[in-house]
Amino acid sequence: MKSENVILPEGWTLECLEETDSTNEAVKRRAAETGLDRLIVQADGQTAGRGRRGRAWKSLPGNLFFSLALKVRDAARLGEYSFLTALALARAVEDIAPNLAPKCKWPNDVLLNGKKMSGILLETDGKHGIERLIVGVGVNIVPVGAEGMLYPVASLADEGCLTGMEEVLSAFMNRFDLLAKLREKEGFAPVLDGWKKRAYGLGGEIAVNLPDRRLTGTFSGLDKDGCLLLNNADGEYRITAGDVFFDPQGK
Ligand code: BTN
Repeated sequence: MKSENVILPEGWTLECLEETDSTNEAVKRRAAETGLDRLIVQADGQTAGRGRRGRAWKSLPGNLFFSLALKVRDAARLGEYSFLTALALARAVEDIAPNLAPKCKWPNDVLLNGKKMSGILLETDGKHGIERLIVGVGVNIVPVGAEGMLYPVASLADEGCLTGMEEVLSAFMNRFDLLAKLREKEGFAPVLDGWKKRAYGLGGEIAVNLPDRRLTGTFSGLDKDGCLLLNNADGEYRITAGDVFFDPQGK
């Protein structure tokens, strides 16, 4: 990808690489070297793309891999960026393909037709405590194949949307910047509201894999911080992290 083909909101810097280990690592290195805030590193290929919980992220040519580095001002509320990033991506897809109805899967996947189109990996970095938030995003623009995947996968091309990396990154950055400004001005609530409007599976039966056990029940809502609320015969659970499955009898 060529950086001059990407339209960025004011104040952002984009560096494009042919290949790197992981754009999350690359942006950490470059942000530490340059001291830049609002830095984006994109790579056409990743040799060690990472997913959540130490899983690998398949990085096939034609798909979009990038990471943002943001200086941290409110370390306690970084989890809000999970929802903000997923919502920005869902809105970007709506901008590009108004006929598609992307959905947000808790906490931060974006789905097309119930299948995973993107993944988001939030990390923090800094020499002296938490200095930077790293937001890593992988978007399937072209098909990736389902082998070895934890969830069913989709791509924009699978859903009939023929677009490219530059268009998706431009649309995403526009939405991300707008939402970050909205959050600064009005707090997290409007961001969470936008996410909830596109929530996948709300009110339905789910299973959540936690590090030590599996819970099943009804996905009854989110609290004001975005924690997932699950209800079953034992009561209400407030879940901060876990893998959600919408077919409780399945995996
Ligand atoms: C997940 O759903 O498990 C999160 C996947 C995140 C993948 C992206 S691709 C760009 C960035 N670099 C990485 O190594 N991971 C993220």
